Amino acid sequence: MRITVYSTRPYDRRFLTEANAAGVHDLVFMDARLDHHTAPTATGSAAVCAFVNDQLDAAVLHTLHSLGVRLVLLRSAGFNHVDLPVAAAMGLVVGRVPEYSPHAVAEHAAALVLTLNRKIHRAHARVREGNFQLDGLMGFDLHGSTVGLVGTGKIGRCFARIMLGFGCRVLAFDPKPSAEALAMGVQYTELPALLQASDIVSLHCPLTPATRHLLDAAALACMKPGAMLVNTSRGAVVDTRAVIAALKGGHLGSLGLDVYEEEGDLFFRDLSAEVLKDDVFARLLTFPNVIVTGHQAFFTEQALLQIARTTLDNATHFEATGLPLHGVTADKVV
Ligand code: NAI
Repeated sequence: MRITVYSTRPYDRRFLTEANAAGVHDLVFMDARLDHHTAPTATGSAAVCAFVNDQLDAAVLHTLHSLGVRLVLLRSAGFNHVDLPVAAAMGLVVGRVPEYSPHAVAEHAAALVLTLNRKIHRAHARVREGNFQLDGLMGFDLHGSTVGLVGTGKIGRCFARIMLGFGCRVLAFDPKPSAEALAMGVQYTELPALLQASDIVSLHCPLTPATRHLLDAAALACMKPGAMLVNTSRGAVVDTRAVIAALKGGHLGSLGLDVYEEEGDLFFRDLSAEVLKDDVFARLLTFPNVIVTGHQAFFTEQALLQIARTTLDNATHFEATGLPLHGVTADKVV
């Protein structure tokens, strides 16, 4: 099957090419993001392959369908960027990679927690400058502290296990509590109680209409003064402007972000020689108690291998049966 693969970087091409060593599929790699301008480049392909910041809204899906595309392969677990009802109405099938390495994302969230708590980013800069003073670098013992998880799916449960390993008390909010999480000692509670009790709040829910700006000004005000917020889920789960106000007011103690509401125009590219045009993002970067990574939580060798294999398995299964191995529709996720 001919597949136009958008938003590819050298590492995507390497892992997909290796997974396609037998030459089962004809992969056409594009640097560009999939959007209204680039959708016509899928001409001649039966499938497109997209990443998290590609646009798969109604207009793009219509263009793809008119070109003969019948399959959308997401190289991600999240599918919030696809207009699934429109895809279904046109008979466009969508496949995703439901699980590639929950450990990768959970471990990155833990890295953000440790870095923020012990101010490793500041310590590193100081030591390189020959400044060995400790003032301003004090952290707190994770052991005995309370961690609140929003979402206890695959990634949330991995993160819970790591935090329990540190000796933390782990609270969680999830409309569908997990028996596995309960068995490992996670205590479920409602969101306001979780926010009030937690020293660290970590987000592991998908972006849906219900979770958009879940952490808004009111929710942030519920958090313990000086608490830490970590978001490795999707940027828009957090209201960035409200978070900046909470940081400026000193109520929010620290912030670790791997995702950002408007990351589509920033992440996965080298913009180091350009002027940063996003003033909200620029303000975030000025805080000493904020760390931002560019959507790299998934970025491990194991995860990329699994993403490439599952993506091509989805395509192969679609050719054989008309459905991907892991399909997603507006009302059903496999
Ligand atoms: P999952 O589907 O296994 O778990 C998601 C959990 O969130 C489920 O238990 C669900 O019941 C819960 N949930 C749904 N609505 C909720 C709400 N309103 N409040 C609290 N919990 C809610 O998904 P998984 O694999 O754990 O991934 C979670 C999210 O992490 C993905 O949706 C994606 O957005 C993000 N992600 C980020 C990556 C990165 O590189 N930064 C990589 C992979 C995923």
